[in-house]
Amino acid sequence: MSAQVIMIASGKGGTGKSTVSVLLGSRLAAAGKRVLLIELDSGLRSVDIISGVYGKTVYDISDVLSGRCQAAKAIIESSIYPGLSVISAPYEGGVVEPQALQKLIQVLDSYYDFVLIDTAAGLGAPFKAAVSVSQMALLVLTPDPVALRDGHIVADVLYDAGLQNVRLVVNRVGPNTFEKGAVEDLDECIDTVAVQLIAVIPESVALQRSSAAGQPLAANALAYRAFDNLAQRILGKDIPLVVR
Ligand SMILES: Nc1ncnc2c1ncn2[C@@H]1O[C@H](COP(=O)(O)OP(=O)(O)OP(=O)(O)O)[C@@H](O)[C@H]1O
Ligand SMILES: [Mg+2]
Repeated sequence: MSAQVIMIASGKGGTGKSTVSVLLGSRLAAAGKRVLLIELDSGLRSVDIISGVYGKTVYDISDVLSGRCQAAKAIIESSIYPGLSVISAPYEGGVVEPQALQKLIQVLDSYYDFVLIDTAAGLGAPFKAAVSVSQMALLVLTPDPVALRDGHIVADVLYDAGLQNVRLVVNRVGPNTFEKGAVEDLDECIDTVAVQLIAVIPESVALQRSSAAGQPLAANALAYRAFDNLAQRILGKDIPLVVR
């Protein structure tokens, strides 16, 4: 069986791609899947902290893609999310060539059920390389006009590149999000971006704190259930979208 490769993208920065990547990976792993998360973002490493591998990384994805080390040396098991493995981004520099990433995916393919690729915001080299190896894209956005507009642009590029399986994750939805008026409701998010919704992740202080501290997200946090539902939907289960 070969791995399903899913890229996590956004137009605007800071919408929650890395957070969604780690927590989705953790729930797929909890469902018994072999999951590798590749952080394809140079200079803005954050997956190491969120997944609890901070300080354990010797080799990073740029070492692997440039041939300085074998993939196995850069893969670190998350200590807080069992079953989730991570290859971190470099602290700085690093060129992402699509051909190098394609080769890496070929090597890893039979060892994992899912390879998640956390990309940098926008349409740069990490995004383009990820598109060239992915079967699915999750577009992560926050419900604000800039994220929606940029999300629409990214969705168009994904579709133009031939990636048909694109799904929308609306992140950081709080009880008063749509009362403030900038974005009316979830329908406006879906209509503006023109991508089918797969998950709504609540605004969560517990998630923000646990991510920053490299601690696991508590199973009783509202966001935990949302990530579990996202993972189950990706695994093909029919879980209704309930927005609180
Ligand atoms: N659902 C949420 N509730 C509360 N805080 C969140 C949520 N999702 C993400 N955050 C916070 O938002 C910030 C940005 O998240 P994250 O680093 O995952 O975004 P990103 O899209 O990967 O950013 P970048 O574009 O810089 O790579 C972090 O402080 C994170 O803890
Ligand atoms: Mg990120």
